[in-house]
Amino acid sequence: MAFDEELSNEIRKRADIVKIVGSYLPLTKKGRNFVAKCPFHDDNNPSFTVSPEKQMAHCFVCGASGNSITFVQKYLKISYVEAMKKVAEIIGFSDPRLEANTYKKPIDNKKATILKCLKDLSLYYEYALNTEQGKEGLDYFEKRHLDSDLRGKYQLGYAFDDAQASINFLLGRGHSLKTIEDTGISQLVNGNYIDKNHGRVIFPIKDENGDVIGFSARRMNNDSSLAKYVNSPETYVFHKSSVLYNLDIAKDKARLAGHIYICEGFMDVFALGRIGVDNAVATMGTALTNEHVQMLRKLNVEIRLCLDGDLPGQTASMKAAKFLEENGLKVLIVDAGSHSKDPDEILNAEGEEALRTYINTLLSRVDFALAYYQRSNPLKTNEQKKKLIKEFLPILLSIRSPLDLDNYLRKLSKVTGYDVESIRDLLKRSRAVDVSHNDELMRNFRPERKAVRKLEIAERELLYQMINHPEAVAFYEEKIGLFYDETYRHLANFIVDYSSRHNNYDSIDIVSSLENSGLDNKDELVKEFSSLYLEKTHPQECNEELLSNLLDSINNEKEKIYEQDTLAMSLEGKSELEQARIVAEYNRRKNKK
Ligand code: CTP
Ligand code: MN
Repeated sequence: MAFDEELSNEIRKRADIVKIVGSYLPLTKKGRNFVAKCPFHDDNNPSFTVSPEKQMAHCFVCGASGNSITFVQKYLKISYVEAMKKVAEIIGFSDPRLEANTYKKPIDNKKATILKCLKDLSLYYEYALNTEQGKEGLDYFEKRHLDSDLRGKYQLGYAFDDAQASINFLLGRGHSLKTIEDTGISQLVNGNYIDKNHGRVIFPIKDENGDVIGFSARRMNNDSSLAKYVNSPETYVFHKSSVLYNLDIAKDKARLAGHIYICEGFMDVFALGRIGVDNAVATMGTALTNEHVQMLRKLNVEIRLCLDGDLPGQTASMKAAKFLEENGLKVLIVDAGSHSKDPDEILNAEGEEALRTYINTLLSRVDFALAYYQRSNPLKTNEQKKKLIKEFLPILLSIRSPLDLDNYLRKLSKVTGYDVESIRDLLKRSRAVDVSHNDELMRNFRPERKAVRKLEIAERELLYQMINHPEAVAFYEEKIGLFYDETYRHLANFIVDYSSRHNNYDSIDIVSSLENSGLDNKDELVKEFSSLYLEKTHPQECNEELLSNLLDSINNEKEKIYEQDTLAMSLEGKSELEQARIVAEYNRRKNKK
């Protein structure tokens, strides 16, 4: 295609530079402009500024600048005309003048030769599936609900058991042995080239243009002595780390829908395809890479992670979501809830509606992480809780809406038991310093003793009395039942147990019994007990009045905490407006009391 000024102007006018630059770089809004780290020099600060008003981008440090087309030209190091095409693609603009074929990519002969060979081979595998010997492959696909339409759509195939059949076919088609080797499918065994995929069903892997670049070959039985999948090795055209399976089909659908699903395996992509969701891709069972991010960024859509519901899958989601967000992509995560299956298994076991609901139940990264931590490693110790808070700091810092922030703080407070204000306070401090100070901040973050201040004081007082007076122990058993504070609860239980076994007891004996107890958290308990025991500020007599006052305080404070928890629960899943209403109502009633 020759340069067409009129067309160029038209594309430039239709393309919003924010959208174009934003599909390559993570942009942050700053005043009337957007900024990013400059891609044209080694930038530490976001110096690259994009102005929606002027439709220009400019770096205030290195001076690089451009409009939407010249930006893409420079960024991708391609010709102006190529850049025009890219921009048109991003904004979904089509025009016959763009299709005119005078422009040709520089030809990579080696690549073209290998691709041609792979294409022939893929067609051969497809053909083989429909032969007599291919029947077992066909049966396998049928068993997995991949009917002839789907097989055609994904060009599924079969490699004959005869390991030399495909090699001979390719040689017959005029491909050299060298080229066949370059495809990565062959292997030299006893002087003969054989097809590594033989006797398996075939999933051709295509690049985003739809060209076959390699294969994944699955065994048809459950014989676990054989690899489940045989994948193409790294070749001149096949790079596992940049494979997004089905991207050729998914990319346009994703742009239309505004989002793309990322699954773990082909079977999951097929499952989504079976219910009409074609904007789905899969990595080849690997973690997301920088190459994947580059490819996804070009789509300029929200990413929806749809990895397996089992623990490894969920852990992978945590990592992937973090990685994607760090790279400026918007991410939501499918809420596996109690499912431990993959989408393919859900569709087969529970049907279309179940899978549809499943992939549409989405959580933000924070909500997902909260659910994940609650499920995978229940937060028992303060160490675990603080680790969680630390993990969340950067996420919290990135939240702009005060209402969202409130919401997350409340949820975090709920899972950790730390009060909202201490976490907010930590956040404030962390905002003021560099991330390198986070460890120090965390060391000074001791909300566990402040979390439920008044309740804690009352419980602590009663515990003190229990150490010194058996009647307080009896009172605790009868009236309190269990302390809210975990450490106090453990200590109280220990004392109750101890006193039931010893008529006459001495606090010192309790400590030594505690030390020898083999309890997981005995160090923490001993420390707490000792500090309580040694405290000199307990002049109060243990009498009925004191005990009954403590009981009242404890009950009152517990009631308040209960209300807070109920509030947090009632906010879940509500719209911002609705949340604001509930919070206002809550405050109104609290003030009335
Ligand atoms: N994978 C692989 N080699 C294996 C296992 C897995 O290359 N031995 C890759 C494949 O790309 C596979 C993906 O990891 O699609 C996900 O693995 P898994 O969840 O085990 O496979 P499924 O997609 O569930 O396949 P199936 O339902 O057929 O078991
Ligand atoms: Mn599966």
